[in-house]
Amino acid sequence: MIWRIVWQPVASPLMHILLLNGPNLNLLGSRAPEVYGSTTLAEVEQMCRQWAGDLGHRLDAYQSNHEGALIEAIHDARGAFDGIVFNPGAYSHTSYALHDAVGAVEIPTVEVHISNVRAREAWRRTSRIEPACVYQIFGRGVDGYQAAIRRIHHLDASPPIVRGSGDHPDRVGDLRLPAGDGPHPVVVLLHGGFWREQYTRDTLDSLAVDLTARGVATWNAEYRRIPPIGAWRTTIGDAADAIDAVTDLAAEFPLDPSDITVLGHSAGAHLAVLGANGADVKPRRLVLLGGVLDLGVLDPEHDALPNLLGDELVTHKDIVDPISHVPQGVASLVVHGDDDVAVDPAHSANYVAASTARGEDATLITLRGSDHWDLIDARSDAWKTIAGHLF
Ligand code: DQA
Repeated sequence: MIWRIVWQPVASPLMHILLLNGPNLNLLGSRAPEVYGSTTLAEVEQMCRQWAGDLGHRLDAYQSNHEGALIEAIHDARGAFDGIVFNPGAYSHTSYALHDAVGAVEIPTVEVHISNVRAREAWRRTSRIEPACVYQIFGRGVDGYQAAIRRIHHLDASPPIVRGSGDHPDRVGDLRLPAGDGPHPVVVLLHGGFWREQYTRDTLDSLAVDLTARGVATWNAEYRRIPPIGAWRTTIGDAADAIDAVTDLAAEFPLDPSDITVLGHSAGAHLAVLGANGADVKPRRLVLLGGVLDLGVLDPEHDALPNLLGDELVTHKDIVDPISHVPQGVASLVVHGDDDVAVDPAHSANYVAASTARGEDATLITLRGSDHWDLIDARSDAWKTIAGHLF
């Protein structure tokens, strides 16, 4: 006899999210803790219920080591769930049947991997299931589950138009249009993560949705990241192209390319400055949040810069240092939390000093008691203060 799971539909306008974990994830906590961490599956499930609850949603969890049972759980989710957070374990790399199940039920599904599947054995780099999913998150530890819940939440709250250049999967972005006829001012968002592959644009969903609700169009852009080590030309080139993409999008959507704000967070602020310099279209202003803006301040032990520059670390550091390339005639609002331990507030202070010394319009806001992440959480007081300066 095959036991089927009978899910109770929830009678509420909020989302009902299914957390699905595949083979061997029942061993979380004791299985290769150096790869997967020490959090148990029960703890992950409890945290996910809490994370979903914080957004007003309900989450139910199921784990199986059997492909057929996972397929049936996905089938049974139809009509009962609005989103699936799915860590398929090793089935990710082999199971076309799970791909088909996700595709068949048409429930927005975010694939999650705790470990960095792109930095391990070559066979882990391929996911058979990803093409049926709306997004994939990997290499962020168990926090990746929270990111997946948030991605599902934001896709539902404000569904974007996803557009790509077609020549690389990471040259893509989420366009959101506000109410009204336009043409709308546009905010281009560039996320951070020290240019590393596992950090992607979902980290700025919260701001993109909030800004759109405040009446501007948002273009939350992805770009190619590292590895390969030394990819600075492609990464910075993609940031410039992401800004220029507004001109192409304006041919199809009611956007105003003469009113572009480029908002970058963390290493995305670095890309905002260098991208603005490389773009054909000139932004009206930059909003640089917790930004990596003075490479001289980076800890010499930090691997981010050697990763970005590779063999050209010594010869090309100046070329990619925002403080040496302040764009001319573009106003900048530079914001840092004084509790930021990820990126030293000195980055922002030094950048603003260099900008004003060159006669550029730059404003520094230091937010007391705010850390690196408060600045990109639309629910935070920090963001409300920043938004107050923008509108
Ligand atoms: C995993 C990655 C898979 O390659 C592996 O087979 C797992 C766990 C992860 O969460 O990192 O079982 O999905």
